Amino acid sequence: MRMVDLIIKKREGHALSDEEIRFWIDGYAKGEIPDYQSSAMQMAIVFRGMNKREVSTLTDAMEHSGEVLDLSNLKGVKVDKHSTGGVGDKTSLVLGPMVAACGATVAKLSGRGLGHTGGTLDKLESIPGMSINIEGKRFEEQVNRIGLAIAGQTAHLVPADKKMYALRDVTGTVESIPLIAASVMSKKLASGCDAILLDVTVGEGAFMKNMESARELAKIMVDIGNGLGRDTRAVLSDMGEPLGYAVGNSLEVKEAIEALHGRGPKDLMELCYTSGSIMLVQAKCAIDMNDGRKKLEEAISSGAAFEKFLLMVEAQGGDTSYILHPEKFPVASRIIPIYAEEEGYVHKLNALEIGVSSMKLGGGRETLEDTIDMSAGIVLNKKIGDHVNKGELLCTAYTNKEDIDDILLDIKNAYVIKEEFALEQPVIKEIIQK
Ligand code: URA
Repeated sequence: MRMVDLIIKKREGHALSDEEIRFWIDGYAKGEIPDYQSSAMQMAIVFRGMNKREVSTLTDAMEHSGEVLDLSNLKGVKVDKHSTGGVGDKTSLVLGPMVAACGATVAKLSGRGLGHTGGTLDKLESIPGMSINIEGKRFEEQVNRIGLAIAGQTAHLVPADKKMYALRDVTGTVESIPLIAASVMSKKLASGCDAILLDVTVGEGAFMKNMESARELAKIMVDIGNGLGRDTRAVLSDMGEPLGYAVGNSLEVKEAIEALHGRGPKDLMELCYTSGSIMLVQAKCAIDMNDGRKKLEEAISSGAAFEKFLLMVEAQGGDTSYILHPEKFPVASRIIPIYAEEEGYVHKLNALEIGVSSMKLGGGRETLEDTIDMSAGIVLNKKIGDHVNKGELLCTAYTNKEDIDDILLDIKNAYVIKEEFALEQPVIKEIIQK
């Protein structure tokens, strides 16, 4: 078999056989197929797509390109949640403890942020001392003892995705439903959970810009997971504007702490309650979503969810005094308020612009080698549907950088303010059950 023939076959719009897909992925993971041939194949897939069988085989070949975790020593139904990426998305920090406080076992492997999207691992690392490198017995012991751990993916898990994702990032091949589905599901399946909840984001700040493509991506992932015996469901959530008010690592941790105290932003809490109630049903800790929601509300009002977060931070070496006194987090040296130039209603608040601007302020990385300024980011004061007066605060930029006039202008331009009334956007757009 020759890789060039497979690239031509896909380029001409034909389906690849299972054997051909495995030849590509095995060869690429072993370094026998070069980057340039793999990227040509990925580009052919961007244009020609893949059928369900091809996506399923691609997922399986990627999953088995490295270590596959066995979590059978852990008690209970292990539930995991994965978001396809967003701006201000601190859901895992709030949802993990909420669901664990209701008795579910949350053994979560998370990723780092890249480009305009943030990553849960970076956010956790803004807590001094916090380690995300917990593997093997230590991970198992923590999950069995407190029911919750959030760790980084090990180097041995799905190595094919690591190589392919790095290549996709620099070859314009990220936005492809088959490639995203196989990338996400290979990691979720290899990480050994029994049940998976996918949060498929849709809108300006997400990979999926419209409902049709988000629905298609969600359905294909749900089918792959269920076909392989994992209870897999999905929520489609809005990413037209950022989630919550804070964007940037320690700023988001502070907002997550507020949320765990019951003072979270409406959209973030709604996403956590809906996702959490599905996860509790999947974990057999609730009879239905209503029952799940009641339990989650109780976990917030009683302080049990906050306690779970504290236990997790302590178990992973983090300094809990920052969680108890969030005012201890270092604050950026420059705090710049941005004011409205006209009166009206916020019609748009472009999540992509806000995410890119936060990254440029120092809060994110353009390449995986960049270091992050944990205190940098943006705190919104106005969101879609809000009324603003001329001269009123729209948002505040936090940075340690100089020469940021262009960035501040981009942030202001992320807002579209019009005279006519604007409606607040619902965060949950659709739920896809089994
Ligand atoms: N998240 C992933 O893990 N992979 C993708 O391809 C896109 C989002």
